[in-house]
Amino acid sequence: MTELDLIIDLHKNSKRQGPGSEGETLKALGFMRLPSGRKLKMADIGCGSGGQTITLAQKVNGQVIAVDLFPKFLDELNERSERLGLKEKIVTLQKSMEDLPFESEEFDIIWSEGAIYNVGFENGIKKWKDYLKIGGYLAVNEITWITNSRPKEIEDFWKQEYAEVDPASNKIKILETNGYSLVGYFYLNQDSWIENYYKPMEARFDAFLKRNNNSELARNVVEDNKSEINLYLKYKDYYSYGFYIARKN
Ligand SMILES: C[S@@+](CC[C@H](N)C(=O)[O-])C[C@H]1O[C@@H](n2cnc3c(N)ncnc32)[C@H](O)[C@@H]1O
Repeated sequence: MTELDLIIDLHKNSKRQGPGSEGETLKALGFMRLPSGRKLKMADIGCGSGGQTITLAQKVNGQVIAVDLFPKFLDELNERSERLGLKEKIVTLQKSMEDLPFESEEFDIIWSEGAIYNVGFENGIKKWKDYLKIGGYLAVNEITWITNSRPKEIEDFWKQEYAEVDPASNKIKILETNGYSLVGYFYLNQDSWIENYYKPMEARFDAFLKRNNNSELARNVVEDNKSEINLYLKYKDYYSYGFYIARKN
């Protein structure tokens, strides 16, 4: 198994592959003034096993195209949507977010939780704008500084991991410069990281190591995640996932 296979293996059979919660997906949705009287078309990009996709499909009158690069996550989402009677409302699509087969102005809503960093925030919001109807909504979240300054250790860590880490004010400026108007912003609460993401992940470490024969590569994957968790616990007052909800002008 490659390191990527192992990372997918660690995250399979989990409700979420990143921090978040149903309540915060609904909070983001609540900023949108959606047209009634017709079915809406949504894309959920980097959906993983569909924590937020299920919520969107349950709450919005319309269909979600749920995109992810990895079939394992999409298979899990298909099973869940079948079980919940949402098969007609969720269509899964295995594609890279860099190569989406969408048409101009196809969507009322483009959603992406914890995934836009794979193409970069500015690049993603620029490219995806074309797929949105005028007046349509974008909802994306990603790593954001929540204070004006921070200790060097955490600043260096995130700059190294993701060069576009920034305070919300800079991200909002990027949205405005690229033809969006912000309609809402908040950042994820600490339970969304600890209770919904890190604790369930920690609970999977033993079984993950066992089924991967306690290999060195598997142990490294666990250690990397433990370091990320420890950094979060130490510096959680300085960063979170900022959730940006914006309307296409
Ligand atoms: C941090 S996870 C977030 C998953 C889910 N949205 C959630 O919040 O639980 C990032 C997701 O992006 C997907 N991903 C990574 N690179 C991708 C790409 N190039 N195209 C599409 N999806 C990608 C991963 O498979 C993963 O499901």
